[in-house]
Amino acid sequence: MNSLSHADLDKQTVTKAYDRWAPVYDLVFGAVFERGREAAIAAAERVGGRILEVGVGTGISLPHYSRACRLCGIDISEMMLRKAQERVAEQGLTNVEGLWVMDAENLSFPDDSFDVVVAQYVVTTAPNPEATLDEFARVLKPGGEIVLVSRVGAEAGLRRSLEHFFAPAARKLGWRTEFSFDRYANWATRTSGIRLIERRAVPPLGHFSLIRFAKDGTSGAAHALPEDYQTARTTH
Ligand SMILES: C[S@@+](CC[C@H](N)C(=O)[O-])C[C@H]1O[C@@H](n2cnc3c(N)ncnc32)[C@H](O)[C@@H]1O
Repeated sequence: MNSLSHADLDKQTVTKAYDRWAPVYDLVFGAVFERGREAAIAAAERVGGRILEVGVGTGISLPHYSRACRLCGIDISEMMLRKAQERVAEQGLTNVEGLWVMDAENLSFPDDSFDVVVAQYVVTTAPNPEATLDEFARVLKPGGEIVLVSRVGAEAGLRRSLEHFFAPAARKLGWRTEFSFDRYANWATRTSGIRLIERRAVPPLGHFSLIRFAKDGTSGAAHALPEDYQTARTTH
């Protein structure tokens, strides 16, 4: 286990940090993360059905899903979620089933509840990322997909050194700068019934990836591997 992997962020710090970010979040992180969100929504819509957005934040993604998808959202920050509730009301998003203050690591949904679990820019902010991924797998229906957009730390070079240097400051803001792809790959390898099916870089700066996992089973979509999957796995 990586020395920074075990609860190096605590829930109180993360909640407070995002409560403070809430009034300006869309302004600061709206456009910069837009392309990643588009990629995640497109992947989720290919499966369709009932979708859980974990760390839904201000609900910035919600209006961009097809109205045919039924959406549920959770977030640990009440202030972020209030913004999401306002957005749902203002835009009349009748396909949003509900928004709840909830910890991603302890979801109060039964097993096999969703066709897709989406988490955009969330897993690296969670105190226990692997335990959080376990919860995603639990609430996912067989045949469903986990769709992440996440920061992936550099494996070598100057960027890696900078990420480790800035890690303590970043944690006070509510996220990790350093987070290796191996943690996702290793989680999938040791989690029964879960397969890594895609990793693709998304803007900005090549620091983020779209990462998809499939849960074995018969319902849901066929999980086609992109043609450049092998390359994608080894070149990021
Ligand atoms: C960087 S923001 C991303 C928000 C949104 N997904 C987006 O695309 O902009 C991370 C979000 O994850 C939430 N979060 C962090 N840890 C969480 C946890 N353990 N459970 C639920 N939400 C969490 C934060 O409160 C915050 O709203």
